Amino acid sequence: MGRILVTHRLPDGGLVPLAGLDHDIIGPKPDDAPYSPAELCTYAADCDAIVSLLTDRIDTTVLDAGANGGRLRVVANVAVGYDNIDVPAAHERGIVVCNTPGVLTDTTADTAFLLILAASRLASTAEADLRAGRWPGWGLLQYLGRDVHGATLGIVGYGRIGRAVADRAAAFGMRVLHHARRPTESPGYVADLDELLAESDIVSLHTPGGAETHHLIDARRLALMKPTAVLVNTARGTVVDEGALADALHGGRLFAAGLDVFEHEPDVDPRLLDAPRTVLLPHIGSASQATRTRMATMATGAVAAVLAGETPANVVTPA
Ligand code: GLV
Repeated sequence: MGRILVTHRLPDGGLVPLAGLDHDIIGPKPDDAPYSPAELCTYAADCDAIVSLLTDRIDTTVLDAGANGGRLRVVANVAVGYDNIDVPAAHERGIVVCNTPGVLTDTTADTAFLLILAASRLASTAEADLRAGRWPGWGLLQYLGRDVHGATLGIVGYGRIGRAVADRAAAFGMRVLHHARRPTESPGYVADLDELLAESDIVSLHTPGGAETHHLIDARRLALMKPTAVLVNTARGTVVDEGALADALHGGRLFAAGLDVFEHEPDVDPRLLDAPRTVLLPHIGSASQATRTRMATMATGAVAAVLAGETPANVVTPA
């Protein structure tokens, strides 16, 4: 019998893989408030498993508390991304890290496409005007966006989600290019990221977060993009230098942006909040009922497997 900290409420059915296994489940707090870093350490020291969200920082302090004198064996993140967890440190301490790949691919690709369409066609600006009573009636010159069909889409990061966005783009009649660190052997591969940015009408980001991709899209790279281009980010906020993006949007050096993720969530740079032609979503990439349930059961299923001495398929290994 193990002790499992579940840091937040899960969708209905999320704990099903642990049912009847006689484990002790701690948490979430009655009001679903986050556990503080100190509380995470306290529980890590006394638990076999943590089911975490991407908003929980599982750093060396927490991992040390779980490993030194503790018995922490697994941290299962209810997310495909795991930049909130120090994976190499967990590995060094013999703690398994799991994520939820695969189950959210299509839902997140749908969100990317939602932003591609909404940003290109100025949907947020137009809707805000309508809701605020600023729409004077149909006008030939109003809300003139950029066509998505026929445009060149540059996908940065060609994992599961990037490929699923490429499939959708093909059905929309787009020309699709992609960039990844290693050659993909797929048509449309562009080895040089700068070249892909300069060539694309719409750029959609699908890299992991973390140190390696921090500010991958910085002021220099934004300047390479066409002034008519649209930038979409459903990956991690840290991939884009938000200050530089706000400058580009305010300065008219980029046509539009669609963002689902931010550098300092839940804070959003005020200059992005009032940037023109910008669609902002509160990190809802995988937020469908079915997908969030599958993510939760995948994470709790991984915990059940590790505590039973098995190796789940969704183990993250350090790069
Ligand atoms: C969401 O951002 C995830 O990583 O699953």
